Amino acid sequence: MMRNKLAALCTIMFIGATLAWADDPTAPPKYNPASVERGKQNFASTCGFCHGATGKGGEKGPDLLRSVLVLDDEGGKSIGPVILKGRPERGMPHFPFSPEQITDIANFLHNSIEATKDRDNYKILNIVTGDANAGKAYFNGAGKCSSCHSVGGDLKGIAAKYDPIKLQSKMVQPDDSWTEGNPAKQVSAISVTVTLPSGESFTGTPTYVDDFTVSLREDDGTYRSFTRHKDSPRVEIKNRLQGHLDLLMNYSDADIHNLTAYLLTLK
Ligand code: HEC
Ligand code: HEC
Repeated sequence: MMRNKLAALCTIMFIGATLAWADDPTAPPKYNPASVERGKQNFASTCGFCHGATGKGGEKGPDLLRSVLVLDDEGGKSIGPVILKGRPERGMPHFPFSPEQITDIANFLHNSIEATKDRDNYKILNIVTGDANAGKAYFNGAGKCSSCHSVGGDLKGIAAKYDPIKLQSKMVQPDDSWTEGNPAKQVSAISVTVTLPSGESFTGTPTYVDDFTVSLREDDGTYRSFTRHKDSPRVEIKNRLQGHLDLLMNYSDADIHNLTAYLLTLK
């Protein structure tokens, strides 16, 4: 109990510190604001037609805020040649800009990239603003999470396993864990159990199911296939994530944020 409280407190302090860092009004701007403003004007009128007024891409030109060339650029060294020479064969005209104009546009683009990063940080912050204690209560109560999970068992140390965004998405949609990382060990959330008239039954991942045939692969890799005649053998298909899918319908945003805050204490 004490330890959980402490951990929750740490999370809150961590969030506080990060917030202060993200929004620190005393931090000097990284790019000269006057230059950024000039670049913005020039960009919107000259480049905006193709790249969108904010540089996020348009019908005739790519998103420059995700361009590797722009990300790697320093003060216009890589952007400059593209502006001056263009890539006429690929739809990018050239512009006889002065070095100052190029620097302004580069500053504008880099400044927008920074702003996007801050927004992403803000999203992370938003995720961990939940109330860990409320999350804990929901986990053991209305959420019924504890009917399938245990914080000392399968979810032990989950906060060390994933970052906050990943953790939340695993909770909301756990099935992507199967294909990720180790495709060889793919396990489907869907299982099928075939019960023969003799009572013998086989459970595994379905590989083929129609009105006439049902095939499955058991956990140890054994492949089995059965011919179906009406209701024999008995075939039951289960989605072991059904519980999650059902819950998803009941979650409020606040529940999700509180749960995430709680799970983040499980270091
Ligand atoms: C007529 C449309 C058009 C206009 C106007 C235009 N661009 Fe482009 N730009 C393109 C296209 C198309 C590409 C992609 C070329 C390619 O595939 O290599 C491009 C590519 C670029 C790239 C390289 C991106 C990368 O990742 O390789 C930069 C940087 C760039 N433009 C900057 C500018 C700037 C700055 C301006 C304004 C001064 C501008 N563009 C105006 C169409 C345009
Ligand atoms: C009906 C059973 C069931 C219920 C109820 C349930 N879960 Fe799950 N949960 C699962 C299963 C099954 C998985 C997949 C675990 C695996 O990879 O084996 C899973 C996965 C997860 C994961 C990802 C675990 C990991 O290591 O990747 C998280 C986080 C999680 N659940 C949180 C919750 C929370 C929070 C609740 C309550 C709101 C909840 N679950 C309710 C069955 C359930």
